[in-house]
Amino acid sequence: MTMLVHLLAISGFLLFVQASGPPKELFSPLLGGKVLATASNESTSDARYPQYTDREGTWQYFTANQWTSGFFPGTLYQLNVRRSLCSSSFDRSVDWLDLGRQWSSGILPYLTNNRIEHDVGFVSFPFQDELLVNPKNATAINVIQIFADQLAGRFSPIVGCTRSWDTVDPTDFQVIIDNMMNLDLLFLAANMFGNDTYRDIAISHADKTIANHIRPDGSSFHVVEYNSTTGEVIRRRTAQGYADNSTWTRGQAWGIYGFATMYKNTGIKRYLEISRHMATFFMNTMPEDGIVPWDFDAPTVPPPRPADSSAATIAATGLLLLSRLEDSIAPRNSTGSRLWSDFALSLLDKMTDLAWRPDWQSLLANGTVNSNADPPNQLTGTVYGDYYFVKVGNDLITMGLAKC
Ligand SMILES: *[C@@H]1O[C@H](CO)[C@@H](O)[C@H](O)[C@H]1NC(C)=O
Ligand SMILES: *[C@@H]1O[C@H](CO)[C@@H](O)[C@H](O)[C@H]1NC(C)=O
Ligand SMILES: *[C@@H]1O[C@H](CO)[C@@H](O)[C@H](O)[C@H]1NC(C)=O
Ligand SMILES: *[C@@H]1O[C@H](CO)[C@@H](O)[C@H](O)[C@H]1NC(C)=O
Ligand SMILES: *[C@@H]1O[C@H](CO)[C@@H](O)[C@H](O)[C@H]1NC(C)=O
Ligand SMILES: *[C@@H]1O[C@H](CO)[C@@H](O)[C@H](O)[C@H]1NC(C)=O
Ligand SMILES: *[C@@H]1O[C@H](CO)[C@@H](O)[C@H](O)[C@H]1NC(C)=O
Repeated sequence: MTMLVHLLAISGFLLFVQASGPPKELFSPLLGGKVLATASNESTSDARYPQYTDREGTWQYFTANQWTSGFFPGTLYQLNVRRSLCSSSFDRSVDWLDLGRQWSSGILPYLTNNRIEHDVGFVSFPFQDELLVNPKNATAINVIQIFADQLAGRFSPIVGCTRSWDTVDPTDFQVIIDNMMNLDLLFLAANMFGNDTYRDIAISHADKTIANHIRPDGSSFHVVEYNSTTGEVIRRRTAQGYADNSTWTRGQAWGIYGFATMYKNTGIKRYLEISRHMATFFMNTMPEDGIVPWDFDAPTVPPPRPADSSAATIAATGLLLLSRLEDSIAPRNSTGSRLWSDFALSLLDKMTDLAWRPDWQSLLANGTVNSNADPPNQLTGTVYGDYYFVKVGNDLITMGLAKC
């Protein structure tokens, strides 16, 4: 009953959001302008990949040997998509595809002997994008094969998962919820190279994640440590969240999106159900102000609880995928589809109001990179928050939910 009332209250609020349409900032010329300014930085340094900003909005740069290095080239490819979606209104003088290719090539020195671990899936994004433009690009095909083999090489048949983080003690086998987002690469490789091993690994990893990361209420643990000798769970804890048993919002967002992607790739109903369950938890746990906090269980006072704009844009993009999947089942689930796209729009609306910063180098502020770092790395722009801000705008246009 309480939940029904809650849902009705949310729907009332959502109707209001719908009436005013998606935030216009999603389609602002500043998207192209800012990204071009960053892409045009003629740096001779190897450390030229933006990852997060300082608290004044200036990008901090790293080498491409990072989990985040695919997001900036990925953003350039998303702007190439935007250019074709919005042919009459979007600045056509920039060759985004060429820029995307140039920035991808900076990742090539790190194909092997890298520190990217399970995040090869994220780093493969711009190469996946290249294959959508040119399925015959031999460099991109090679990258997919190398990265998919690296991820598959991290699989333990005893644990049933791919290892997320390397540890000093190799029997301490750590898996994070974020790892769900890297499995898509394995399906791409399975299809491209006709090798079902990749697919079997992804399914095993997802099933173990359902068993050990997801709580009965649909919330999630950030880290599960297994013993690689016995396959047993040693402990469940957090790394970036507020507490071992809290729900770190970016992790919850990766889960919604990752399991929706699993359903997209397999058609197996339990993945759709877990994605819905995690999305329902996210929706029912949102604070009244509609702003995604960095952790759902972090205290609101004191100090004021920082948001995580990246959790909002990742969740919104994952929710739009879930919305499309509800529409794809037979019979078509239009109610479910509408529920998730409305919720995505409400997250974007509130977060854009809070975090849009015309005078920062990033598109959004109010990202939390890692609140547990010393000093806390929060109140920043993030390259992944911005990537999903651009992508979600493209998805809204493609779904007919927004105009350029
Ligand atoms: C350009 O990149 C370099 C290093 O990668 C950085 O130090 C510098 O601040 C950047 N300049 C601008 C305008 O972004
Ligand atoms: C092929 O893809 C790579 C990496 O994405 C890119 O750097 C290169 O320019 C592309 N080649 C062609 C001919 O488009
Ligand atoms: C399929 O992929 C797996 C994982 O990378 C690899 O170990 C195996 O050798 C591949 N099989 C074939 C026939 O190429
Ligand atoms: C895993 O189990 C083995 C065998 O019982 C033990 O030697 C090892 O210390 C355990 N590793 C961890 C990280 O608990
Ligand atoms: C986490 O555990 C602590 C101590 O057992 C408890 O006080 C707290 O309510 C728990 N939080 C959640 C979200 O379960
Ligand atoms: C958002 O960021 C601004 C500074 O950029 C900060 O003053 C404000 O407290 C932040 N709000 C939240 C909820 O994180
Ligand atoms: C439609 O979607 C909603 C939200 O995911 C779900 O609760 C409901 O069970 C779905 N209905 C059917 C018939 O699948």
